[in-house]
Amino acid sequence: MNEIIRIRGGKRLSGEVKISSSKNAAVAILPAVVMASEIVKLYDVPHIEDINILISLLRKLNIKVDVDGDNLTIDPTDIQNIVLDDSGVTKLRASYYFMGALLGRYKKVKMLYPGGCDLGPRPIDLHLKGFEALGAKVKTYDGMIEITADELRGDEIYLDIASVGATINIMLAATFAQGRTTIQNAAKEPEIIDLSSMLNKMGARIRGAGTSEINIDGVRRLKGCIHDIIPDRIEAGTYIIMAAAMGNNVRVDNVIPQHIESLLMKLEEMGVKMEVGSDYVLVKGYDELKPVDIKTLTFPGFATDLQQPITPLLAIANGDSHVVETIYVKRFKHCHELNKMGADIEVHEPSNTIHGPCKLHGANITATDLRCGASLVIAALMAEGETVISDAYHIYRGYDSIAQKLRNLGADIAED
Ligand code: EPU
Repeated sequence: MNEIIRIRGGKRLSGEVKISSSKNAAVAILPAVVMASEIVKLYDVPHIEDINILISLLRKLNIKVDVDGDNLTIDPTDIQNIVLDDSGVTKLRASYYFMGALLGRYKKVKMLYPGGCDLGPRPIDLHLKGFEALGAKVKTYDGMIEITADELRGDEIYLDIASVGATINIMLAATFAQGRTTIQNAAKEPEIIDLSSMLNKMGARIRGAGTSEINIDGVRRLKGCIHDIIPDRIEAGTYIIMAAAMGNNVRVDNVIPQHIESLLMKLEEMGVKMEVGSDYVLVKGYDELKPVDIKTLTFPGFATDLQQPITPLLAIANGDSHVVETIYVKRFKHCHELNKMGADIEVHEPSNTIHGPCKLHGANITATDLRCGASLVIAALMAEGETVISDAYHIYRGYDSIAQKLRNLGADIAED
């Protein structure tokens, strides 16, 4: 896998780019397949590193996974619930969905602690409290976590924070619990709706996904299904921001505009001209870019995952923009890298002030995490001269064929 991306900036972008399926839906859907007693077919699965790792973890569990282009056929009929102590577990956050899925099906799961991007503290206390409320016992030792239950029983669970991961994990375990589980203050992200519609096709009885109250009536068995994963709203947002900065009529295709309304409203406020269709956004450009203030929030608020990518655009706006990050208060490492390129950003966690307008120039910079990487790619496309982005593997974790997609739009980008 290439570790370095080189971009010679300043090229105008035009043409069409097709958005891949959602990483954060797919990374919940793949672990959920362990709950099925029959074959599951997934279409349009993104080609990203996180998916490759999850496929290898499914295979460790003796599940057959056939990859045919974008489509996966997953046969879990010979599954073995072995200890997941493979280093892959620690490479991504979403490996924690094996907890809910295997606990639900086998009432026992033992695995390494999950990893993921370093965005400051990322506790999983709400996931574990949820499992305990369903009757499970949790033990942690030597980097391992073991969760067991004699039986799982539905309960009313209130989440102190509307956590995406905790909502999904509890939904997975509760699918096989006896009776009804109600999750109050559930997260409402579209990826949760996608997972619940797949589980319901398999025979689960989940109501209310996408609202703050989800009801799950336990079932004893899940059958197979065929499922198309929703488009990736964060990848879509990333390309729309890129097109706003450097594009001349860039059409971003395979988008659900309702999933990115908060971003589209902010871009409009900044002066970006767009045509929003039923499944595309045509970004036309801007006459003048105005600064805006952004506060990240849970869905449908402004996504924390787009806070880093939009920063370079704010850096060239005519005036000061302020960002308040309420989800991951330390998600600002990209600012230090952008400052090496000529941006003028003051970080005072959990917020920053972006003094615009600045002129970006090429530099040697490092992708410290996935969305920091996306932010640096956007800045590099805008900058004068060559930018070398190291640790690009973070970017490949979440962006399908990014270099090829950008080259098709006219960018000068190379990988080595
Ligand atoms: N939190 C707790 N306790 C918990 C769980 C969460 O305190 O038990 C806190 C977190 O520390 C954070 C907040 O609650 O401050 C929200 O975290 P959440 O659980 O919602 O996030 P997540 O499930 O770990 C997912 C995405 C992230 C995305 C966030 C927020 C996946 C695999 N990851 O993370 O995506 O930023 O929701 O929308 O779905 C990314 O794609 O780059 C990425 C980091």
